[in-house]
Amino acid sequence: MSRSTRCGGRRPARRRHLRRRRRRSGQLPDRCTPSLTATAILVIPTAAASLALRPARRSQRARSGQAISISTRKGLTVRATLYGGPGDITVGERPDPRLEKPTDAVVRVTLGCVCGSDLWYYRGVNPHALGPIGHEFVGVVEQVGADVSTVRPGDLVVAPFTFCDGTCANCRAGWTGNCLSGGSFGNHGVDGGQGEYVKVPYADATLVKVPAGDYSDAVMKSLVALSDVMCTGHHAAVSAGVKPGDTVAVVGDGAVGLCAVIAAKRLGAERIVSLSRNPVRQALAREFGATDIVAERGDDATKLVMDMTGGLGVDAALECVGTGQSMATAFGIARVGSIVGAVGVPHDSTVPLQTVIFRNVGLRGGVAPARRYIPELLDDVLRGRINPGLVFDYETGLDDVKDAYDAMIDRRATKSLVRIGA
Ligand SMILES: NC(=O)c1ccc[n+]([C@@H]2O[C@H](COP(=O)([O-])OP(=O)(O)OC[C@H]3O[C@@H](n4cnc5c(N)ncnc54)[C@H](O)[C@@H]3O)[C@@H](O)[C@H]2O)c1
Ligand SMILES: [Zn+2]
Repeated sequence: MSRSTRCGGRRPARRRHLRRRRRRSGQLPDRCTPSLTATAILVIPTAAASLALRPARRSQRARSGQAISISTRKGLTVRATLYGGPGDITVGERPDPRLEKPTDAVVRVTLGCVCGSDLWYYRGVNPHALGPIGHEFVGVVEQVGADVSTVRPGDLVVAPFTFCDGTCANCRAGWTGNCLSGGSFGNHGVDGGQGEYVKVPYADATLVKVPAGDYSDAVMKSLVALSDVMCTGHHAAVSAGVKPGDTVAVVGDGAVGLCAVIAAKRLGAERIVSLSRNPVRQALAREFGATDIVAERGDDATKLVMDMTGGLGVDAALECVGTGQSMATAFGIARVGSIVGAVGVPHDSTVPLQTVIFRNVGLRGGVAPARRYIPELLDDVLRGRINPGLVFDYETGLDDVKDAYDAMIDRRATKSLVRIGA
């Protein structure tokens, strides 16, 4: 395969002629204008599959990014979930995502889901821009820009909930969720993961390719859990410094808290106390490795956990809710000298400085650097060591995405999966 097939390079005369003919007939876009309409891009499965196995030579990259995108350009829009204000979730039309920069990729979303963070917007507690919503998804790469080398059309990919350039000072330090050029999917006009197609900026740095394989539905659910909640639960545990033999308490039994149980167990915690009053979630917490359940809340919860730990408190308290009460509980049960790992988006929460100073309890956590964590957690998912996809106990199609939200709001669902494409 010759390098001359790159856009703008010299092509063999016959191929140049063919491309001219297809371009005139509308099958190919204008030369060097990588702006194919995502709905109209047909991936040739066999070609895509074989390309995914080849080494990423630059000439092949450029050719595959254009030549296997057979566009009929019929659709100018795609369907996506739209946030119209508190309580207002609909499915509507969005402009077809297009490659705009050579570092972009377009991903066809197969699975998306609803996050506890989306619920803050849905309830009107947190502001969210009107328009696309949804930041967790897995899908298949449809099209890549000429500079993209780590993913190819046809690859199955996990997207972290934030995109990142991988080169700024924060990314280089591992804080990919704080990328200086980054942002979150599904807000401020950025394509959302609860829609058919997403343009992914900085595709090389952002997307994680899943090795080619025939994955069960259970594994696919775990892959979409890697997009956010598994990484966020892990971040709580890492931030709190969970280590082998520890006694850990997880405040919160949503998908993040349940994944924090997985993470604590994975890091070697011996005793894991899950603070949950919901029987379904209590059962899942136990399945994930919780040894104790505390159904109480507030002062009662604090007292119980302190009693369980001989008055010392836990080695690591993982705050996975984001309310003033859950933060107070986490600090109330944290052992002298320990660190609270907090990942809940804070609402009316305060940090009790008296505890920080007089009990030497620290606070870490924040936006999870999901992109940093996905590779190691992906390995565990593929080896069957962890199964975070079990947090999905409700599912809808894209048309019924509002029900996916309502089921979580009504606590009929721990976490709702949204099946979007094949
Ligand atoms: N830091 C990050 O990068 C990041 C990423 C994703 C989500 N989040 C945040 O993490 C938090 C949890 O997300 P989720 O998807 O699990 O949310 P969720 O709303 O589905 O679950 C929260 C659960 O906590 C329970 N709860 C409330 N108060 C409690 C208390 N005092 N003690 C014990 N449990 C309590 C609720 O009943 C609910 O089941 C949210 O604030 C979300 O916005 C942060
Ligand atoms: Zn999320």
